[in-house]
Amino acid sequence: MTDRLNGKVAIITGGTGGIGLGVAECFVREGAKVALTDIKESDASREFMDKYHDQVMFTPLDVTDEDQWIEAIDKVQAELGELTTVVNNAGIGGSGATLDQEKYEDWKKVIDINLNGTFLGTKHGMRVMKGRGGSIINISSIEGFVGLSGAGAYNASKGGTRILTKSAALDSANNDYKVRINSVHPGFIKTPLISQDLEDRMSKLTPLGHIGEPRDIGEICVYLAADESKFALGSEFVVDGGFIAQ
Ligand code: NAI
Repeated sequence: MTDRLNGKVAIITGGTGGIGLGVAECFVREGAKVALTDIKESDASREFMDKYHDQVMFTPLDVTDEDQWIEAIDKVQAELGELTTVVNNAGIGGSGATLDQEKYEDWKKVIDINLNGTFLGTKHGMRVMKGRGGSIINISSIEGFVGLSGAGAYNASKGGTRILTKSAALDSANNDYKVRINSVHPGFIKTPLISQDLEDRMSKLTPLGHIGEPRDIGEICVYLAADESKFALGSEFVVDGGFIAQ
């Protein structure tokens, strides 16, 4: 299918690799204009931009910096048109330490990028899209539902993203902003965040017998960015091969 996102203009954070680039590929296929934003470019994102230069741009954006959010949104709207979609995807894993061993600095870094970055993207997405409407898609995780030993900061950041999404969605609905805000909860997806050892272990634990690929998350984001999801608000979209159904 094509053209489901004709006329849409999307910002994707952490968009130059992994899940972010997978979302971008699906959006472009469906006709959207896409701004990849990240703290760095990659060979894959340069290749993608060369291929789709009339639909895709890159602008640097550290999601923890509020001034950069304001600048990036201004630049994207000047180059691509009125923003309709924000995908808050940028994220990092944690130190792996148990909570009693976790360094405060490591805790704060994960919370800053994964949760505070999503707060800023949701805030400024709402600011510019309110009234005319739009969709904000917050990439949480199955680890926003279930705990994992050694992942305290990551669990907290993803659980926080899940519930932040609901209060923001209600703020939007109660004030007739027409901005729909939902969270997406990937299971284990093959990206640089996942080592081969983790892939092997998690494939065995996933009911479908393998981990996912970035496009699996891109497809649910197409639905949430498209007008056909007009009744979806403040909700949780789990795409995990059955992992948390067990
Ligand atoms: P990735 O490491 O491939 O991509 C993350 C991107 O975020 C990178 O391009 C990185 O440069 C960027 N980034 C890091 N710090 C940033 C900052 N301060 N500002 C802007 N960009 C920054 O990781 P992946 O796997 O694609 O993850 C994307 C999202 O999906 C993350 O939020 C992650 O927590 C979530 N997720 C991933 C899963 C997986 O199995 N890969 C499972 C569940 C959720």
